[in-house]
Amino acid sequence: MKSSHVFVLLWLSFSHVALSTLATDDAAALKKVWQALAGNALYWKGTDVRVKPCNAADFTGVACGSGTYSIVLSRTLVTGGPLDPAIGSLGPRLLSLTAQAINLNGQLPLSICNLTNLNQLTISGNPSLGGVIPSCLTSLTALTSLTLSNNKLTGGIPSDISSLYNLKTLILGFNVLNGTIPNMSTMTNLTSLDVGYNWLINTNNVVSLPSSLLSLILTNCSISQPLMGLLNNTISLQKFNGAYNHWSGTISGISSLVNLTIFSCRVCSLSGSMSEISSLALLGNLDINTNSFAGVVPPLNLSFLTSLNLGFNNLGGILPPSIFFQPMLSTLDISSNNFTSIGFDSSHVSLTSTLATFSAPGNKYLTGSIPLLVGNYTKLTSMDLSFTLATDTAPPYPPSMPVLNSLTLSGTAVSSFPAVLNNVTSLTSITINNIFTVVNSSMYQVAHPNLRTLTLYANGIAGSTVDISRCPSLATLEITTCTNIVSIHPSNLQSQSLTTLRLSGNKIASFDPTATVGSSSLTSIDL
Ligand SMILES: *[C@@H]1O[C@H](CO)[C@@H](O)[C@H](O)[C@H]1NC(C)=O
Ligand SMILES: *[C@@H]1O[C@H](CO)[C@@H](O)[C@H](O)[C@H]1NC(C)=O
Ligand SMILES: *[C@@H]1O[C@H](CO)[C@@H](O)[C@H](O)[C@H]1NC(C)=O
Ligand SMILES: *[C@@H]1O[C@H](CO)[C@@H](O)[C@H](O)[C@H]1NC(C)=O
Ligand SMILES: *[C@@H]1O[C@H](CO)[C@@H](O)[C@H](O)[C@H]1NC(C)=O
Ligand SMILES: *[C@@H]1O[C@H](CO)[C@@H](O)[C@H](O)[C@H]1NC(C)=O
Ligand SMILES: *[C@@H]1O[C@H](CO)[C@@H](O)[C@H](O)[C@H]1NC(C)=O
Ligand SMILES: *[C@@H]1O[C@H](CO)[C@@H](O)[C@H](O)[C@H]1NC(C)=O
Ligand SMILES: *[C@@H]1O[C@H](CO)[C@@H](O)[C@H](O)[C@H]1NC(C)=O
Ligand SMILES: *[C@@H]1O[C@H](CO)[C@@H](O)[C@H](O)[C@H]1NC(C)=O
Ligand SMILES: *[C@@H]1O[C@H](CO)[C@@H](O)[C@H](O)[C@H]1NC(C)=O
Ligand SMILES: *[C@@H]1O[C@H](CO)[C@@H](O)[C@H](O)[C@H]1NC(C)=O
Repeated sequence: MKSSHVFVLLWLSFSHVALSTLATDDAAALKKVWQALAGNALYWKGTDVRVKPCNAADFTGVACGSGTYSIVLSRTLVTGGPLDPAIGSLGPRLLSLTAQAINLNGQLPLSICNLTNLNQLTISGNPSLGGVIPSCLTSLTALTSLTLSNNKLTGGIPSDISSLYNLKTLILGFNVLNGTIPNMSTMTNLTSLDVGYNWLINTNNVVSLPSSLLSLILTNCSISQPLMGLLNNTISLQKFNGAYNHWSGTISGISSLVNLTIFSCRVCSLSGSMSEISSLALLGNLDINTNSFAGVVPPLNLSFLTSLNLGFNNLGGILPPSIFFQPMLSTLDISSNNFTSIGFDSSHVSLTSTLATFSAPGNKYLTGSIPLLVGNYTKLTSMDLSFTLATDTAPPYPPSMPVLNSLTLSGTAVSSFPAVLNNVTSLTSITINNIFTVVNSSMYQVAHPNLRTLTLYANGIAGSTVDISRCPSLATLEITTCTNIVSIHPSNLQSQSLTTLRLSGNKIASFDPTATVGSSSLTSIDL
C-alpha cells in the first residue's frame, strides 16, 4: 500500500518534470513564430502549451491534444512576416498547420520537414511567400492534405511527390511552379488534385494520374496529350477543369465518367461530337467554350444542369428546344456557333423554364422571330441575340418573360423597333446597334415604363432621334454614329428622367440649348 503510493508520487513528479521541460521549449518556439509574424502579444502569452485543456486565451489558434498541437494562424491576429524556423522544433508534436492569407513572406523554412507527424499543411493566399517547395517535404509521409495554393512558390513540384502515399488532397494552384507534373499514378489515396495556373510545361510529358481522383484541376498546364487518354482512367471523377491546354482528340468515352458534375474545358483544342454529354446524368455545369466541337446538340434531359456554355464551337443545325427546359438550367450560352434555328415544340408552351441568362450572339445563320422562344420564361433576366438573323415578326406565341431586363439585338434582321417587346414591361436596358437598314425614326415606337438605358449605335435611323416620351424612367439615351439623323426629337430635351444624352457622330446641324425646358433632368449632353 505504502510503496505503491510512493511509486505513484515518483512517477507523477518525473513525468511532470519531463512535460514542463518540453512545454517550455514548445511555448518558446510558438512565441518565436508568433513574434516573427508581428502577432498581437495579448493573444499568445501562455507559458505551458501542454497543459490540458488548452487555454485558448493564452495561445489563440493553438489546439492541443495529448502532447500534440494543431495551429491555425489567423489573419485577424497577426500582421505578417516570415514563418520562423522555430516551427520545426515542435517536431512530431505538430499535427496540423494552417496559415491562410496572413501575409507570410520569405520562404518555407527547411525545418518544416522536421514536423514528421504533420497530416495537414495549408499555407495559401500569401502572395509574398516565394522560394521553392522544399524537396524534403516529401518525407512527411503522414500528410493526408497538402495545400500550398495562391502563393508565389517557384521551382518544380518535387519529382518524388508520390512518396506522400497517404495524400488525399494536393492543392498547388496559382503559384509560379515550373517544370512538369510528376507521375502520380501510384498515389491511389489521392482524391483531389489542383496544379492549375502555374508555369508548368507538359508539352513533352505524359501526365499520369491515379484512378482514385474525384476532383481534378489542370488549368493552363501546357498539356498536349489526348484528353480521354487521361480521363478514361479517372473513372470516378466528379469535377474536372482542364481549361487552357492543348488537349487533342474528342471526348468519346466520356459517358463512362458517370459521376461527373462539372466538366469545364474552355480553350482545350477538343473536336468531334458532344453528344455523349447527354448521358452524364449528374452533370451540373458544362463549359466547353472555345473548342472545335461540331455536329448537332443532342436533346438533353439533365436534372441537375444549371450552366451550359457551348460558345465558340462549330455546332450547328437546329438547337433542340428541350435545352431551354432543363429543370434547373440558369445560364445558357450558345454564342458564335453555326446554329440555324431553335426548334419549335408546341408542347413547351405549357412549360416553365428556369433560365435566367440566354446568350446567342454571333450565330450568323440563326433565324427566327424574337423572342425565338416558346414557353414561360419566368426567370429570364438577360437575352443577347446580336449578330443573328432574328426578326421582329410575330412569334408563334406571345412572349412570357415577366422579369427580362436586358435585351441586346445588335446586327439582327429586325427592321425597326420590335413592337412585340413593348409588352415586356420589365425591360431596363435595350441595345440595338449596327442595323443599317434606313428607317424613319417614327418607326421606333418605344414605350417602356422601366427602361433606363437605350443604346442605338451605328443605325440607319433617319430623321430625328427617337421619341422617348413614353419611356418615363429613361436615364441614358445613346444614339451615336447614325449618319441619317439630322435633328433631336423634342422629347429628348423635355424628359424628366434623362440624365445622359449621347449624340456624337450624327448629322445634327445645330443644337438650341433653349429647347431644353426648365425642368429637364439632363446633366450631360455629348454631341
Ligand atoms: C527537430 O525536432 C527535434 C525533436 O523535436 C528537435 O530536437 C530539433 O531541434 C528539431 N530541428 C529543427 C531544425 O527544428
Ligand atoms: C492509402 O492510405 C492508407 C491509409 O493511410 C495506407 O494504408 C495505404 O498504404 C495508402 N495507399 C497507398 C497506395 O499508398
Ligand atoms: C524553374 O524556375 C527556376 C527558377 O525559379 C529555374 O532555376 C529553373 O531552371 C526552372 N526550371 C525549368 C524546368 O524551367
Ligand atoms: C497561362 O500561363 C501563362 C504562364 O505560363 C500565362 O502567361 C498565361 O496568361 C496563362 N493563360 C491564362 C489563360 O491564364
Ligand atoms: C507512371 O508510373 C506508372 C507506375 O510506375 C507506370 O506504369 C507508368 O508507365 C508511368 N507513366 C508514365 C507516363 O511514364
Ligand atoms: C484510354 O485512352 C488511351 C488513349 O486514348 C487508350 O490507349 C486506352 O486504351 C484507353 N483505355 C481505356 C481503358 O479505354
Ligand atoms: C459514383 O458514385 C456512386 C455514389 O457515390 C458510387 O457508388 C459509385 O461507385 C461511383 N461510380 C464510379 C464509377 O466511381
Ligand atoms: C427527364 O428525366 C426525368 C427523370 O430524370 C423524367 O421523369 C422525364 O420524363 C424526362 N423528360 C423527358 C422529356 O424525357
Ligand atoms: C454554317 O451554316 C450555314 C447554313 O446552314 C452553312 O452554309 C455553312 O457552311 C456552315 N458553316 C460551317 C463552318 O459549318
Ligand atoms: C408562367 O408561370 C408562372 C409561374 O409558374 C405562372 O404563374 C403563369 O401563369 C405562367 N404563365 C403562362 C402563360 O403559362
Ligand atoms: C400586348 O399585350 C396586349 C394586352 O395584354 C395584347 O392585346 C397585345 O396583343 C400584346 N401585343 C403584342 C405585340 O404581343
Ligand atoms: C419620317 O416620317 C414623318 C411622318 O411620319 C415625315 O414627316 C418625315 O419627313 C419622315 N422623315 C424622313 C427622314 O423620311
